[in-house]
Amino acid sequence: MNNLLTKIDKYFHKHSDSILGIDIGTSTIKIVEVNRQKGQLFLRNAVLLDLPANILEDGYIIGITALGTLLQQTIAKNGIKAQEAVVAVSGRSIFVREVAFPTMTKDELKEAIKWDMEKYVPFAPGSYYHDFAIVGKSSEEAEMKVLLVAAPQDLVSTVVSTVRAAGLKTLAVDIESLAIYRSLSGAENAVVVDLGGQAAQVIVYQNGSPCVTRAIPINGQRFTETIMRVLELEYAEAETLKQRQRNLLKKDLEDESVLHTQLSVLVSELAKEIRRTLEYFQMQNKYAVVDKVFLTGGGAKLDNLAQQLASELDMFVAVHNPTANLSIPPAFDPAQWQEIAPQFSVAIGLALAEVTA
Ligand SMILES: Nc1ncnc2c1ncn2[C@@H]1O[C@H](COP(=O)(O)OP(=O)(O)OP(=O)(O)O)[C@@H](O)[C@H]1O
Ligand SMILES: [Mg+2]
Repeated sequence: MNNLLTKIDKYFHKHSDSILGIDIGTSTIKIVEVNRQKGQLFLRNAVLLDLPANILEDGYIIGITALGTLLQQTIAKNGIKAQEAVVAVSGRSIFVREVAFPTMTKDELKEAIKWDMEKYVPFAPGSYYHDFAIVGKSSEEAEMKVLLVAAPQDLVSTVVSTVRAAGLKTLAVDIESLAIYRSLSGAENAVVVDLGGQAAQVIVYQNGSPCVTRAIPINGQRFTETIMRVLELEYAEAETLKQRQRNLLKKDLEDESVLHTQLSVLVSELAKEIRRTLEYFQMQNKYAVVDKVFLTGGGAKLDNLAQQLASELDMFVAVHNPTANLSIPPAFDPAQWQEIAPQFSVAIGLALAEVTA
């Protein structure tokens, strides 16, 4: 399953070599332009902007025109040429689950799912889009694992309308976990922790399929709020300090400051959430091995977070680099890009979609 919900889009034309990946998060918007030439992938542009107020409500875009205009202006200002975008839907109302089905052909499965979907999804009949992919054999003989994905139609349509308001075409609508996976290499069996602004999720991949996705209550905002409370700062000041200050989490025996202690509590909570997700996964997949954790999202940029989590979990933990297989623009400083790249994981994965429409 490369392009969830592609069927909402009926543009049967040949798309150009450059594709936009647009990731509208709870805190920021990420826009990337990826160009494909002779099998080579080039990142042409990467733009990060704060999400303005009054755009999102409960995960739904309520400011379609305002956001569309902002996207259009940003694209023009940054010299972005591509006009076709892949976008994501995210949040609590997205349904992603692995389900076992008797072994059958893809066409038979399509029919079976059409009738069975209502059993699984928490949405009213006819109010959602769905898609599926066969992701492997089940532990039971004569069964296969199928990844089911569904999203409310009204949620999808707000995203598509926003893209239209920006003067762009939607090539596909995807979900974040599938997009992130496309930007990962060598991580068929791994955990990804996407630390966003007001939302965060832990995703366990098995053979490349996001078989467990859990929302967790530790996010970037929680770190900022802790700094704000301990140092008695305004939110914006605490945010600036968090982003600029090095070694905020580094273990330093001489500096057992209250801030360090409080931030470490959050890291321990995060480690607990990851462990809990892995335990849940392991209960259902007794013989599966997952031994790597990758951090993505803006929260992954917190200095030393990966190191501290690695020591808490006693596992390999690394900050994810979504451009491991892409050339970056000559104007980018590689070291600087390395630092901000994890925040672009979803957007890059979206732009890497194999669009077939
Ligand atoms: N240098 C940095 N150090 C620590 N945290 C950072 C840094 N830069 C950004 N962040 C944090 O990243 C978070 C935003 O991340 P991101 O852009 O991935 O979120 P989002 O995609 O908008 O949110 P979500 O995916 O949850 O909807 C904010 O909480 C911000 O404080
Ligand atoms: Mg995000």
